Amino acid sequence: MKVLVTGGLGFIGSHTVVELQKEGYQVVIIDNLSNSSIEVLDGIVAITGKKPIFEQLDLRDKTKVQGFFKQHQDIKGVIHFAASKAVGESVKKPLLYYENNINTLVYVLQELEKLEIANFIFSSSCTVYGQAEKMPITESAPVQKAESPYGNTKQIGEEIIQDTCKINPKVQAIALRYFNPIGAHQSVKIGELPIGVPQNLIPYITQTAGGIREQLSVFGDDYPTPDGTCIRDYIHVVDVAIAHVIALQRLLATKNEINFEVFNLGTGTGSSVLEVIESFERVSGEKLNYKIVARREGDVISAFADTQKANKYLGWKTELTLDDAMLSAWKWQQSLNKD
Ligand code: UFG
Repeated sequence: MKVLVTGGLGFIGSHTVVELQKEGYQVVIIDNLSNSSIEVLDGIVAITGKKPIFEQLDLRDKTKVQGFFKQHQDIKGVIHFAASKAVGESVKKPLLYYENNINTLVYVLQELEKLEIANFIFSSSCTVYGQAEKMPITESAPVQKAESPYGNTKQIGEEIIQDTCKINPKVQAIALRYFNPIGAHQSVKIGELPIGVPQNLIPYITQTAGGIREQLSVFGDDYPTPDGTCIRDYIHVVDVAIAHVIALQRLLATKNEINFEVFNLGTGTGSSVLEVIESFERVSGEKLNYKIVARREGDVISAFADTQKANKYLGWKTELTLDDAMLSAWKWQQSLNKD
C-alpha cells in the first residue's frame, strides 16, 4: 500500500518513514531538502533495509505537485510534514511561512481530492492552545490567537482541512497536535539535524555537552512553577512516529468517527527545563554548563497534554521516557561529532 510522506527526510518525517516501512507500507517521500539532508535516506535504508521512493520536489510548485499526483494515483494516504517550523524566523519572514506552510497544503489537498482514496494526516502543534488555562490540555481547550506566523499557519492549516472535509466527505483527515518531540532513533542512524544555532532546548543541550556551544542559557527561573523554569511535555520522536502510523491505519480501516479528527500527541507529563537538564546529566554522565538568563519572549509558562483521547481512540500511548529520549539525543550528538 502506497503512502506519501511530504517532508519525509525531516526530523519527525524520517522517523515516521521508518515506522511505516516496518509495517510494510510502500513509502514515497517528497522533500525539497530546504531543511534536511539527502543522507537521511541512507539512514532510513540502514534501519529498514528498504529504500523509499524519493522525489526532490518543492511543493510550492503547483504544476510539479499536479504532475507528481498524476504519476502516483494509487496513493492511499498522505502524511504531510513539509513545512517551515522556526518560530523566530516566522516572525521575521511571515510571507515565506504562509507560502511554505499554507500554499503547499492547499496544493496537496487539491490533488488529494482527486484521488480515489483521500486519507490525510496533518502535522499540527500544541502551539494552537497558546497558554491554556487548564493543565493537562485536552483537545477541546480553546484555540487561542497565535503568537507567531508559524503558529498561525498551524491554526489556519487545521481550518483549511476542516473546511475541506466539511464539503467533501471523501476526504478523511486527522490533525496531530504535537507537544515537544525530541530524541533520536535508537539505532543512532537518524535524528534531529538543526541547521545553525539550535533554537530548541534539547539540541542546544547536546551541542553544549558536545563542545559545539559554550553554554546553555536557561530562559527564566522566575515562572510560577515548582522550580521556576517553564514546563513542557517532551515526547520521544519514535512515539510520535508510531502515532502517525496508527492514525493512518485508523483512516484506512474507516474507524474514524468524523472525517476531521484532532489528537494531542504528548506523554501527559510536564517536565521543567531544570528537570530536562537533570535527566540529561543522569543518562549521559556529563555535567552541563548552563546559566539562568532572562525569560525568552513568547514562551508559555506550562504546556502538557491530556492524552486520554489518543489513548482511547488511537489505542496509543507513549512507550519511551524522558531519559530514553535524552540518552538517544546524546548518542545521536556523539555520532555527529564523530563525522
Ligand atoms: N529553552 C531554554 N534555553 C534554550 C532553548 C529553550 O531555556 O536555549 C527553554 C524554553 O524557554 C522553553 C523550553 O526550553 O521553556 C522548551 O523550548 P523549545 O524551544 O525547545 O520548545 P518550545 O516549547 O518553545 O517550542 C516548541 C516547538 C515549536 C512549537 C512550540 C509549541 O519548537 O515549534 O513548541 O508550544 F511552536
